[in-house]
Amino acid sequence: MKKLIVANWKLNPPTHKEAERLVGGVVRGITKHFNAEVVLCPPFTHLYHVSRITYHDKKIKLGAQDVFWEDGGAYTGEISPKMLKSSGVKYVIIGHSERRKWLGETDEMVNKKVLAALRAGLKVILCAGEPERKELGIKNNELRKAKNFVGQQLKKDLAGIKKSSVIGHQSLVIAYEPIWAIGTGRACKPQDAAEMARFIKDFCAKRFALRDLPVLYGGSVNGKNALSFLEREEIDGALVGGASLNVGEFKKMINITSKI
Ligand code: PGA
Repeated sequence: MKKLIVANWKLNPPTHKEAERLVGGVVRGITKHFNAEVVLCPPFTHLYHVSRITYHDKKIKLGAQDVFWEDGGAYTGEISPKMLKSSGVKYVIIGHSERRKWLGETDEMVNKKVLAALRAGLKVILCAGEPERKELGIKNNELRKAKNFVGQQLKKDLAGIKKSSVIGHQSLVIAYEPIWAIGTGRACKPQDAAEMARFIKDFCAKRFALRDLPVLYGGSVNGKNALSFLEREEIDGALVGGASLNVGEFKKMINITSKI
């Protein structure tokens, strides 16, 4: 199975010239035999510049880091699903923990965004993950408590979702991102990430009748540890932050998929 490798550039790089250099380096660095769908999610202002390069390159798809739930109206600063679609965007990340933390994004808002994006035909990458496990007040059974947390989050974020709205390959993808692993260099153990991915698939099948949803792992993935996640059958790909800004690291992660 092809893995999905998603680059979340966050608030980087500062200029579109640098964005073009970054995407150019990735395009040139990908070998013939890689076995992945690659998605680049630049900031909104760089979408056009990145799309000028990815448009001619079937190997790379364009993604956005957020979307609003309305199609138009008096919502200063927001971007609608249709606007993204007309800009060539195929995927959108929704509910990243940084937006939940810094911008007060609630599960209710995340839910509206997921439903609106699917309605517009965008492929959704929904992020879920527990905070520092110690914060959950547990010593033992950490994974069980973390599963509980993620289950509660998915219950709210996917509320009201219809099986018929999730059609087509990878139209809804869950990214398991434990918050304590994001940007810390402390990646989750691959075995725990795989167990979580299995839990998420089972949970979504049981609760929402959404079978075999692809699940990505995200949180300090880099060129060195990527294979240990990607080689797990339960893990369908990676959501990569910091390391996706380094052409050498990101190329390595993509090219490694030829070994799977
Ligand atoms: P990181 O970020 O790879 O820098 O840990 C992942 C993410 O936030 O999606």
